[in-house]
Amino acid sequence: MKIIRFETISSTQDEVEKYIGCGEDVIVFAKEQTGGKGTKGRSFISTRGGLYFSYLKNYENFKAEDAHKIIENASIAVCFALNDLGVEAKIKWPNDILSHGKKICGILTRGFIESGFIRYSVTGIGVNVNNEISPGLKDIAVSVKEITGRAADEEALFQKILKNLEKKSDRNIYKELSCVIGKRIAVSCGDNEYETTAIDVLADGRLKTADGKLLSGEEIRLL
Ligand code: BTN
Repeated sequence: MKIIRFETISSTQDEVEKYIGCGEDVIVFAKEQTGGKGTKGRSFISTRGGLYFSYLKNYENFKAEDAHKIIENASIAVCFALNDLGVEAKIKWPNDILSHGKKICGILTRGFIESGFIRYSVTGIGVNVNNEISPGLKDIAVSVKEITGRAADEEALFQKILKNLEKKSDRNIYKELSCVIGKRIAVSCGDNEYETTAIDVLADGRLKTADGKLLSGEEIRLL
């Protein structure tokens, strides 16, 4: 695996995609992003002090229906790495990591499918480590430094996450780390929201709710 480092870049996600087809697993890491990308076309504030990287992984025999395991695996890897720093971390389906109810990490995944198999995936991980959380986001976002009261070693956290990413995803661990299962949630539906209870994250990655719906990637809010 090759790791390419930048001081500043627009988005590690765009950069790593340049290596698709090279046959090698590649990580693009940056200390700061000027055009960080979030889910659903949003931007992801990526100022200095945070951890930002994108991971291009090639697969031999990975069925498309297992695509959700990529984000599950990444979520578990981040939670355990944060726990090692003494930071409580929980998974908010589908792609956020929360600590004490606030977002500490966002994950963005993209799978490239051919004939029913994922040939490669790109996983972008952004963790608030020592970066300042902008005043407008203080109610919903938090950093490692704010939680522990001291600066953390971003490189050590990066290495821990990489090591954890090598492990296979485990559904039971994923469920234990979920802060959504059993909780009241609001589900976005166009311009509206409806309230329900999250029952389970199924083996296919969908979120089952008390009203019998199976959600796949919808925006949810914990109530
Ligand atoms: C989200 O919370 O909406 C997902 C955020 C993903 C951010 C990471 S930071 C590294 C990689 N590069 C990007 O531009 N985005 C992802």
